[in-house]
Parts: sequence; C-alpha cells; structure tokens
Amino acid sequence: MMEPNVTEIPATVLVGVTGGIAAYKAAEIVRSLVKEGLDVHVVMTRNAQEFITPLTLQVLSGNPVWTETFHLTQEQKIGHISLVDRSSLLLIAPATANVLGKVAAGVADDLLTTMVCAATRIPVIFAPSMNVNMYQNPITQENIERLKRFGYLFIEPEEGELACGYEGVGRLADPGDIVEQVVGRLAPKDLTEEHILVTAGPTEEAIDPVRFLTNPSSGKMGYAIARAAAQRGAKVTLISGPTSCAPPLDVELVRVRSAEEMRKAVMKAFPASTTVVMAAAVSDFAPASRAKQKVKKQDASLTLKLKTTPDILLELGQKKEDRLLIGFAAETQSLVKNARAKLEKKNLDLIVANDVSRKEIGFQSDSNQVKIIGKDGSISELPLLPKRVLAHRVLDQIGILRSNPGKGRRRKT
Ligand code: CTP
Repeated sequence: MMEPNVTEIPATVLVGVTGGIAAYKAAEIVRSLVKEGLDVHVVMTRNAQEFITPLTLQVLSGNPVWTETFHLTQEQKIGHISLVDRSSLLLIAPATANVLGKVAAGVADDLLTTMVCAATRIPVIFAPSMNVNMYQNPITQENIERLKRFGYLFIEPEEGELACGYEGVGRLADPGDIVEQVVGRLAPKDLTEEHILVTAGPTEEAIDPVRFLTNPSSGKMGYAIARAAAQRGAKVTLISGPTSCAPPLDVELVRVRSAEEMRKAVMKAFPASTTVVMAAAVSDFAPASRAKQKVKKQDASLTLKLKTTPDILLELGQKKEDRLLIGFAAETQSLVKNARAKLEKKNLDLIVANDVSRKEIGFQSDSNQVKIIGKDGSISELPLLPKRVLAHRVLDQIGILRSNPGKGRRRKT
C-alpha cells in the first residue's frame, strides 16, 4: 500500500519586489517560501533596492537576485525569459501603485515588468501595498479591475495603521497568508472529493476555574494536516484544543477545550466527513469532579480523583462505515507493537506512530519522524521531516487507500 509521494513540489517561484516601505517584508516572504521547499528567484526594481538590499534577498533565497534587464552575466546564465518559462508562479510583493499601473498599461520598461509581460502561461499574483489614498485612487482601482479582468490574481491589502502614518486599507497582507496562498496555488488539487475532519492540539481538563490537566501537544501536526488538505482542495473542518497555532486559510475552525467538548464537536461534524485524521492529543483522564470555586490550599486534599475521558477514535471506529480513519499513536516504548494494537482496536485504516520519548521530535517541535502503519500490515518508515511536509505524506495515503476498491465514499456536495 505504501507508495512514493505524489506531492513533491520543488517548483520554481519568481518573487518580484517593488519600491514601497513593505519591501522589507519580502525578506520574510522569501525565507518562508524557501522553507516550503521552493526554488525562489527574486527580481527587484531599482526603487526596491532603496528599501532592502539585493544581498539580503540573495542570501535568503540562495539564488542570485535579478536587477537589470540587460546585465551581461545574468543574461548569459539563464536569460530572463527562460527564467519565466521554467517558473510555476510569479508573485509581486509588495506591488506599488506604479507597478500596477505599468502592467495594466502594457509597459515593460524594466526587468520586472518585462518578466510580468512574458508571464502569460503562469499565475501572476499581486500583493499590493501603498498609502490608503493611493490605493483608493480611482486610477489605481481601475488598474486593479483591468488586471483582474485579464486573469491576474490579487492578495488584497489589509486595513490598519500604515507606515506613512495614515489609517486605512493599504497594508501588505500578512506575509504568512501570502506564502500560504502561493503554496496553495502550487499544490495538486487531488483531494477535492474529500471532506476531512482533523483534530489537533491538547485538551484541558478543568480541576477548578483556574487549574487544569493537559499535555505538551502544540497542535502543529494537526494544523499542518488541515492546512495541507485545504491547499489540496479538500473541504476541511478542524476541531482544535487550545493552541497558539495560526488558523489555516479556507478551513472551518471549531475551538474546544476539554475531551468531552472535542467529542461533541467531532460527533457533530462526523456524518458529513469522508475522512477523519485524529491528530489531537486527547487527555485520557479528567478530574472526577470540577470545583466551582478556586480550591483553597487549606481545603485541598492532596489526592486528585480522576475519571477516564471518552475515547473518541474508538467510538468513530465503531460507526465509520466507508470513511477513512487515520489515528496517531504517541508511544514511549514498543512503538510498532503498541501502534498496531491501537489500529486494530480502534478499527483504523492507518496509524501514524510517534516515539514521544525522543526529545528532538514530536510534541512541541517543528519536525517529526514517524512510521505510518497500514491495516494491511505495511510499515512506511519516514525520515525526520518538517511537520508541513509530513502532513502531505500522510495525506498522500488517502489517494492510495481510495484507489483500493470498496473504499470509495466521496463528498457529495
Ligand atoms: N484518542 C481519542 N480519544 C481519547 C484518547 C485518544 O480519540 N480519549 C485518539 C488520539 O487522537 C489518537 C489515538 O486515539 O489518534 C491514539 O491516542 P494515544 O493517546 O496514543 O492512545 P490511547 O488510545 O489514549 O492509549 P494509551 O494512552 O493508553 O497509549
């Protein structure tokens, strides 16, 4: 069952940087795109170089930065048109009123606008950033409308305090959202038939109004799976315990606190789902009773009475029908044996086994090393991977499981 990945995306992405104060945010965007495994090439206008140096973006992208149309060495190495031809996407962030106006008018008088003019076969995304009056100027608005009519894409600026001291629309969209949208554009749309229910994070079991039992789960794995699934076209419901993870784009997020609340939310969303990925570290125990008021030191007995929480995945396994069920197993010993036992007991299709005794991976970290165990007995041992890459490897298994006859429940909408 375990087959090679279907989602390697070492695509080449062009990032155009134009001359606005938000140009410094291009550094974060470029760095994050590289972290996503993309081959990033930066093109800067002359004005952009007044705000941030090509050297910064060269170091962060790991590639020479393009600045001149007729630069002998640069042209000799690749040639600006061929760079466009082998790119999968062109992002202009920040995009000034000037560059929008030039492209809308068909002007190609520097390297970036020449590349945009040549980029007729790949998505071109503008992330505008400028003073609110410039943004609302009817000429800018008409240019944006015209560009949209021609199929150019936009990541709209946000409202807020602007660097020029004004309040209003014009601030560059959040760099994390820009990166997510770029990666989403490049991801294969192979999960459009799925409605995936993902759980993430720890649960908190209250002892009294200010104290609770919990565990160190950060929620990063579940959020990475929800984000990757949405990027691949799935409808996604994410049921999350308390975490500090940023909500993924295009995902329905339901926040819960305790295992009991998570159970309720999961059971409500379950009927519409086609696949469930239970990545949450649900607390197995909760205090037998919850004190209404803060327990005072002198009143406290030093023994805490516990009860077990509902095993959500076990319950889902009993009524899964033709849904796919993917669980996680957090183990400190006998990893494969214990994970297999959980897979069988909970009637799962797949279990992702995680050795939580290793400090460098797992709960809080950005990377994890797991074994994916199938109900057919197969084991796939994955190398240490960033959680966002691992998320794709787990989701790859959905297509593989679906290609087995008799597994074909699909989203009906
Ligand atoms: N799980 C669940 N409800 C619980 C506990 C766990 O749905 N009350 C799910 C987890 O989200 C995970 C899988 O069951 O996908 C296995 O969780 P894990 O904590 O590894 O195992 P447990 O079944 O709780 O067994 P144990 O703690 O004894 O190892």
